[in-house]
Parts: sequence; C-alpha cells; structure tokens
Amino acid sequence: MFKKSKTPFVIVLTILIGFGSFMSCKKDEVTPPEVEPPVLMSTPLYDTLGWFIQGGDPSMAIEGQGTKSISDPDNSGQMIQAGRLAIRKVVEGSLQIIAGDTVLAKYFPTLLNEVGNGNTTGFAQLLESFTDFTQQAVSGQMVYQGKSMADAHNNMTYSRFGSANQQFVTDNADFDKFVGDIVLAAQGLNVPNSVIGQLGVILYSTENDIVQ
Ligand code: HEM
Repeated sequence: MFKKSKTPFVIVLTILIGFGSFMSCKKDEVTPPEVEPPVLMSTPLYDTLGWFIQGGDPSMAIEGQGTKSISDPDNSGQMIQAGRLAIRKVVEGSLQIIAGDTVLAKYFPTLLNEVGNGNTTGFAQLLESFTDFTQQAVSGQMVYQGKSMADAHNNMTYSRFGSANQQFVTDNADFDKFVGDIVLAAQGLNVPNSVIGQLGVILYSTENDIVQ
C-alpha cells in the first residue's frame, strides 16, 4: 500500500517555525533608535525676534524662542520657526513700503510692473528670498539659496534688478533710503529699537557688496 510521505509536512512546519522566530527576532531588532531632532542654530537676536512675535511676554524666557516651531498665521496648517515669522513680517512690511517709495522705484521696474498688473508671484518670491537671507544672517542657519548680494544688485547678472538705465545701486543715499524703509516697517510692527539697531548692523554689512 502507498504510504503518504510526511516529508512535505515537516518542511512546511520547519519553514513556518523559522519564519515565526525570524519575525519575532525582527520585531526586537527594528525598534527604532531614539532620533534626536536636529539642533537648529540660533542667536540671542533670533531668539528675541521669536519671543517678540509671540507677544513679548516679560515672564517668558527668551532663550529658545527663535527656533520654536509655531503655527504659521499666514499659511494654515503649516508650522514656522517663531524667529523666521518675525523676520518675514518685517520683510513683508518693508517690501510694501519700498514698493510705494518713488525714490527707489527706478530699481524695481519689473516687480512694480508685475504687481501693477495683479501678478504677485515675483513679490512672493522676493519675500521668501529676502526672508531666507535675513534668517541666515541673523540665526546662522544656512537657508539662503539666492544670488550673492553683488549679483542680485546688478542688472547685468540679475535682469529683475533695475534696467539698462539703472544698472547698479550707485548711491549711498538710496541704500540709506532702502534701510530707512525697513526701519519704518519694523517700527510699525513695534519691534523694540534695540532689535532694530541690531538688524540695521546686519543690513549695513551688505552695503559694500550692493553699492557698486
Ligand atoms: C539692505 C540690504 C539689502 C539686502 C539684504 C537685500 C537683499 C536682497 C535679496 C535677498 C534679493 C533677492 C535675490 C535672489 O533671490 O537671488 C534682492 C533683490 C533685489 N534687491 Fe535687494 N537687498 C538690499 C538692499 C537693496 C537696495 C539698497 C536696493 C535698491 C535701492 C535693492 C534692490 C533690489 C532689487 C531691485 C531686487 C530684485 C527685486 C525683484 O525680485 O524684482 N536691494 N535683494
């Protein structure tokens, strides 16, 4: 009589036991290691800006407020570092004042033409780029990917800057006017004068690259 072999059954059983113990081992092995979130660079000025934009509560410790992740009030569902938010608010107010400044209009023909036609794409890009530059300068985080200051302020290397008639910022008075508009915007947001002074130092550090 034909006797049914037990071999296939034994093989299947062996595979199942092997797989089971492999899975139970694996469960232990894949326990993810504790991953520390990356430490973002900051400075006392960046922390102060972050503290300020959250209401400037005197009982709140300032340290750590710059890199604190908070809800972005202008982009629902997104988070933003408090220090970056403060900088973006100042930049936004500044660009609005600069856009209406007749002394500086000659440098911004492309942007003013776009905005005049209801196209705010370039404005939004400049807002991001200027915010990145200032965030990097203030916090030390390497977030700026735009042009060098010399290239961004030369019509030969950046056609959005000026025109054939206005190729560079050749005038220190215009530089002062531009920074003055940023100061006005910051004052309008009630940024403390000591903070405005520190931002001014950073902005003036670019003057030699921008005034050509
Ligand atoms: C105070 C220091 C300044 C800083 C930190 C600064 C920063 C910047 C940055 C980051 C950009 C964008 C570059 C890119 O995305 O690659 C930019 C563009 C520009 N900047 Fe400045 N800038 C300063 C002063 C000035 C001054 C004094 C003027 C003119 C009087 C000026 C006129 C422009 C113009 C016309 C553009 C191109 C705008 C556009 O996108 O249409 N900037 N600047």
